[in-house]
Amino acid sequence: MVRKLMLLFAVAALASLVALAQSSGKPKPGKPVAKEPAKEAPKPAGTEPAHKAVGPEKCKMCHKIQYDSWAGSKHAAQKEKVECETCHGNGADYVTMAVMKDEAKAKAAGLLMPGKEFCTAKCHHAAQWKDDMCQKVHAHKPKPASPKADSPVKGK
Ligand code: HEC
Ligand code: HEC
Repeated sequence: MVRKLMLLFAVAALASLVALAQSSGKPKPGKPVAKEPAKEAPKPAGTEPAHKAVGPEKCKMCHKIQYDSWAGSKHAAQKEKVECETCHGNGADYVTMAVMKDEAKAKAAGLLMPGKEFCTAKCHHAAQWKDDMCQKVHAHKPKPASPKADSPVKGK
């Protein structure tokens, strides 16, 4: 009984060895050969921002309250305007409604919500920082009291 089993194993091992030898030798039929080179050459790193800017007019379509108050603010009056995207990140990849309405998706696509750290890193002196500056930065859409008073672009 034991001998019979061992013989069986030996035969099986031999068979798989033969199969291995056969398969490794020749190229596999039907395997695609390398085709045309990739269409776009990879861009050198560090030459472009991760996301493109779209400009504040694009944001205005959906965020008129924020836009109008921003347009009259000191941020908009700087020689180098501090625009929506200066603070919220370049918008090309998050401005579509499908992405914007999903906070997680929007953030993954580059949307930033700046806080003290962001604002004091390049622009404001930490010593002059006040915590209500973020609330005052522009007007905010009032929290909807009823489903009716929802986003101005509802249903789009
Ligand atoms: C097609 C409409 C649309 C456009 C264009 C758009 N947004 Fe939005 N955005 C929304 C909606 C909808 C929400 C989620 C609900 C809300 O806050 O009104 C939102 C939310 C936000 C929020 C709040 C995110 C949070 O975490 O609370 C910020 C900040 C924002 N948008 C910035 C921008 C900026 C900056 C631009 C321009 C680059 C822009 N949006 C363009 C529709 C839009
Ligand atoms: C100087 C930086 C700065 C600029 C410029 C700026 N934002 Fe904001 N934005 C903020 C901060 C900070 C908040 C969070 C406020 C808070 O703490 O509730 C915010 C919040 C928002 C929100 C969330 C909803 C709300 O109203 O609170 C939207 C939408 C938004 N901004 C859109 C815009 C748009 C559109 C522009 C350009 C027209 C813009 N922001 C320009 C800093 C900025």
